Amino acid sequence: MANHRTQVAIIGSGPSGLLLGQLLTNAGIDNLIVDKASKTHILERIRAGVLEKGAVAMLEEAGVADRLHAESLHHDGIALAFSGRTERIDMASLVGQGVTVYGQTEVTQDLIDARERTGAPAFYDADNATPHDFDSNRPFVMFSDADGNHRIDCDFIAGCDGYHGPSRRAVPDNAITAFERVYPFGWLGILADVPPVSDELIYANHERGFALCSMRTTKRSRYYVQCPLEDSVDDWSDDRFWDEIRLRLPPAVAEAMTIGPSFEKSIAPLRSFVAEPMRFGRLFLVGDAAHIVPPTGAKGLNLAVSDVHYLFEGLREHYRDRSDVGLDAYSERALARVWKAVRFSWWMTTMLHRFPDTGPFGQRIQEAELAYLVSSTAAKTALAENYVGLPY
Ligand code: FAD
Ligand code: DHB
Repeated sequence: MANHRTQVAIIGSGPSGLLLGQLLTNAGIDNLIVDKASKTHILERIRAGVLEKGAVAMLEEAGVADRLHAESLHHDGIALAFSGRTERIDMASLVGQGVTVYGQTEVTQDLIDARERTGAPAFYDADNATPHDFDSNRPFVMFSDADGNHRIDCDFIAGCDGYHGPSRRAVPDNAITAFERVYPFGWLGILADVPPVSDELIYANHERGFALCSMRTTKRSRYYVQCPLEDSVDDWSDDRFWDEIRLRLPPAVAEAMTIGPSFEKSIAPLRSFVAEPMRFGRLFLVGDAAHIVPPTGAKGLNLAVSDVHYLFEGLREHYRDRSDVGLDAYSERALARVWKAVRFSWWMTTMLHRFPDTGPFGQRIQEAELAYLVSSTAAKTALAENYVGLPY
């Protein structure tokens, strides 16, 4: 058995674990990261693409935003296409702010590079990571790898291990409450090295289902279509995908679209999920370990970052100021923001997708919602305020 000692043991090397680790290292607080996946696997995962201003500020605070500033795209608005119309939501003029387009893959790469520069420890390919004794003052994490069993004694455990990770599952059932909504469809997403069809994102509500035109760079497009949950990627050749997305977009957009071979294709189910509370003694749940949102509105990664903000402030106050006020408030502060993003993501999902079960009444309500939204500066401002990100 190899024994390790650190101040904060972090389970999970996704964006939340890596960002928390970087902020702690910069503040002189020891931390150790354990992930079950290999570094290559973590760096190859394709996920989110839109960053709120608050998330960019956190990456700046962590000292990992140089490449982001050089390579990211700034967007001042989005387009909504529905009922044969296309309407722009001008976020810059409505709320004085836009969003940053920079892939989660790049954020993760920048954070891993920064961690390697500092030499802070991380174990990859680690099996059976489990938090222990977090209701005591001496919590520890156990895991095993090719070298055998390891034990990490620590002051705190950060559960940054995603929706399927072990941290939330280590909490007794009677101590945690889960809230959940599962949506009756998924998103089929592709990445292709073709120029994006539009300078800004297009969210389309069409009778054949939702479609989204997004991007990673000026040369790389990210496109999505709503699909049945039963579909698998094998059902979707590139030709079928391009034909389908073009049917769901305004004709002028469909005609302008450059198509080409995809190099990534995956289907994600849509779910809203919140676990309360987010703290159990010396174990803190962070990011997807505590909550999941459907992707519509791009809040998942941004919420992981705001959780890290609250937890980092609490840990820094604990070590620097010997105050636990921030740690004691972590769950309440994080959840207040989480629920607002859960509401926004649910609302965007409900407004933009075709639901198999809402019937003609539900369909008319959805059309009225969209028509009202684009006719009302108040409603557009509410969308824009949430899309660019509520304050921390
Ligand atoms: P994760 O990124 O899930 O990281 C968790 C880490 O924990 C992983 O590295 C995992 O390997 C590790 N782990 C898991 N189990 C264990 C274990 N037993 N032991 C040790 N380590 C473990 N959000 C958007 O905003 N827009 C999108 O388009 C979008 N697309 C997505 C597509 C997919 C397929 C998925 C899964 C998510 C998507 N999201 C999207 C959500 C966004 O990617 C997440 O909200 C974000 O990754 C959360 O970061 P995290 O660090 O909390 O969790
Ligand atoms: C992306 C994903 C989203 O869910 C979204 O609302 C906008 C962009 C993306 O992956 O690019």
